[in-house]
Amino acid sequence: RKKVTIGTLRSMHRRGEPITMITAHDFPSAHVADAAGMDMVLVGDSLAMVALGMEDTSEIILEEMLLHCRSVARATKAAFTVGDLPMGSYEIAPQQALETAIRFIKDGRMQGIKLEGGREMAHTIEKITTAGIPVLGHVGLTPQRQNALGGFRVQGKTSLGAMKVLEDALAVQEAGCFAVVLEAVPAEVAAIVTQKLSIPTIGIGAGSGCSGQVLVQVDMTGNFPPGRFLPKFVKKYGDVWAESLKAIEAYRDEVKSREYPAPEHTYPIAKEELKLFEE
Ligand code: KIV
Ligand code: NA
Repeated sequence: RKKVTIGTLRSMHRRGEPITMITAHDFPSAHVADAAGMDMVLVGDSLAMVALGMEDTSEIILEEMLLHCRSVARATKAAFTVGDLPMGSYEIAPQQALETAIRFIKDGRMQGIKLEGGREMAHTIEKITTAGIPVLGHVGLTPQRQNALGGFRVQGKTSLGAMKVLEDALAVQEAGCFAVVLEAVPAEVAAIVTQKLSIPTIGIGAGSGCSGQVLVQVDMTGNFPPGRFLPKFVKKYGDVWAESLKAIEAYRDEVKSREYPAPEHTYPIAKEELKLFEE
């Protein structure tokens, strides 16, 4: 498979070919995403919760994100890689954001970065893109601001709210983003925003009218125990948790019953050698 570049993404968008994106948080999850033909792989800060068991994405720090980025980069041969700037690493000033973005490229081995926010982040985005670092915008529901938004709520449900989503998307486009994530926005609003933009929109909970889609890999592969809350927009395409559980339980049972390891799982030794050893 050929390496996906900004140019590849642009031509997909021009042709109206949907862009596929998924999160990865380590070597194996990136390897499988790349093998499955994903156009983009995102090291999302959602890994704080789904891979590290943190309560909140606000807990994760830059160094931790960079460790995961490097492991993802080692497995991603074709997909375009994007790292998510964690909360606290970019909001203070455009200078801080650029320094963080550079670390994602140099230390995290990413090809681009994502940051949350609309019009208020325009100067920051401009600072990063003019340094030659591709920026993926993220508007609508921005989980790092959940405390200010009053939780994980759909954005753009009123005409005023929809107008804000459009203005934010236009502002990050103007600032130089190569694409923008629209999260938890009514499908009709996301479709209109997509039509009004010249850059691709990557939807999550934003309907089929977007230029592409992104999902959290752990969610869509079903790699979590039963009973966990899933947002409405997630489609569970697999049951990785059940597969792993079945395999580990079978292993447990076979160890307890001494069925495993069988002779074919062991190494031979020549009879004479064994005899000498036993004496
Ligand atoms: O952190 C993440 O995984 C994300 C995507 C869901 C867009 O930001
Ligand atoms: Na994120």
